[in-house]
Amino acid sequence: MARSLTILGATGSIGRSTAEVVLAHRDEFHVEAVVGGSNVQALADKAKSLGARFAALADEGANAELKDALAGTGIGCGAGRSAVLEAVDRPSDIVLAAISGTAGLEPTHAALKPGRRIALANKESLVCAGTAFMADARRRGVEVVPVDSEHNALDHALTAGHNRNVEKAVITASGGPFRTWPRERIAAAGAREASAHPIWSMGSKINIDSATLMNKGLELIEAHHLFGLEAERLDVLVHPEAIIHGLVQWTDGALTAGLALPDMKVPIANAMRGAERIPMNLPRLDLAAIGRLTFERADELRFPCLALARAALKAGGAAPTILNAANEIAVEAYMAGHIGFYAISEIVEEVCSSFSGTGNAPATVAEALAVDGEARDRARRLVPGKRL
Ligand SMILES: NC(=O)c1ccc[n+]([C@@H]2O[C@H](COP(=O)([O-])OP(=O)(O)OC[C@H]3O[C@@H](n4cnc5c(N)ncnc54)[C@H](OP(=O)(O)O)[C@@H]3O)[C@@H](O)[C@H]2O)c1
Repeated sequence: MARSLTILGATGSIGRSTAEVVLAHRDEFHVEAVVGGSNVQALADKAKSLGARFAALADEGANAELKDALAGTGIGCGAGRSAVLEAVDRPSDIVLAAISGTAGLEPTHAALKPGRRIALANKESLVCAGTAFMADARRRGVEVVPVDSEHNALDHALTAGHNRNVEKAVITASGGPFRTWPRERIAAAGAREASAHPIWSMGSKINIDSATLMNKGLELIEAHHLFGLEAERLDVLVHPEAIIHGLVQWTDGALTAGLALPDMKVPIANAMRGAERIPMNLPRLDLAAIGRLTFERADELRFPCLALARAALKAGGAAPTILNAANEIAVEAYMAGHIGFYAISEIVEEVCSSFSGTGNAPATVAEALAVDGEARDRARRLVPGKRL
């Protein structure tokens, strides 16, 4: 029987890949609702091509335009916070959560309803409010399945043994566009160069996070919340070919790895469907043709954001919430051309150290958002000349 699906962030990179999976498997899924940020035409097109019943945009001012774009289709629609929450509230078996940034936290958290599966791409939900989010998911009987290719690979690799026998869980990093660049050249690079990811085609914020390696740091924090592994049992390995996505090293020294060609449709389909895999008509991994897989350690001197994220994970409490908020403001400022590449890590570091002690982890999403707001204000004050 077809399962109903709601897609948050339907117009983005993950949203578009999800739509491809759905359109190739119409008998498996029917789309209840689609949610976007502000792009009216892209959302209306997605709603129509997927046969969604409801479409919601976060941008309140887009209501009339969205209504016009969907006139005569029979698809219900709305704009603004309440419309987004209405979309999330509609009956669906699966919610694919792929809004970018902390903007995804409130709707993704509201999607935690008993019996549902959350296919989670929005890692910032867990970085900002992981303790509260996962506690609420457990309490409400919601299965949270990672879409991130690294965590999806770990999710499978971890089924090969007991959690207590995990010595280390390792997520791989392609290394981003600046992997081989010297520090001086990276320092002068603009957002266009930082966005030229060698492997993945992604949204603008995660592109910059991949160039700074903050994305790997956010993923370590995400892994901590998903798998209950402490900082000491989590690591990063640079693997430019992006074929191995996650590895588990067991206490007897053996390793279990998750491999796939780098195509987000594979973990998306898996996160939506589970152990009973969907046959996917995609190219197969030909290891003999690839011939060689290579690995390096991450260089935290050229990529200080990774060290900052590791420190926040180790510190615990509200440190990841603060790190994530400061990073979002700094990345926005970098993309707008207000600051240079290394000012991202400098702003994050200064905001993190401006909080005296990080206390307990926020116990509720509201608490997390209050800390997030304060950290954003402090980060904005460090962006020279401009109000963001
Ligand atoms: N791309 C990847 O390969 C990849 C891999 C793993 C994990 N992820 C994670 O998945 C998430 C999405 O990444 P992405 O690359 O797909 O980003 P993206 O291409 O920038 O897409 C972001 C989506 O979120 C929507 N959106 C933005 N602000 C919103 C708001 N306030 N309310 C509702 N919707 C809003 C956008 O709508 P508009 O189009 O209207 O702006 C768009 O649909 C991120 O958390 C990222 O870390 C991505």
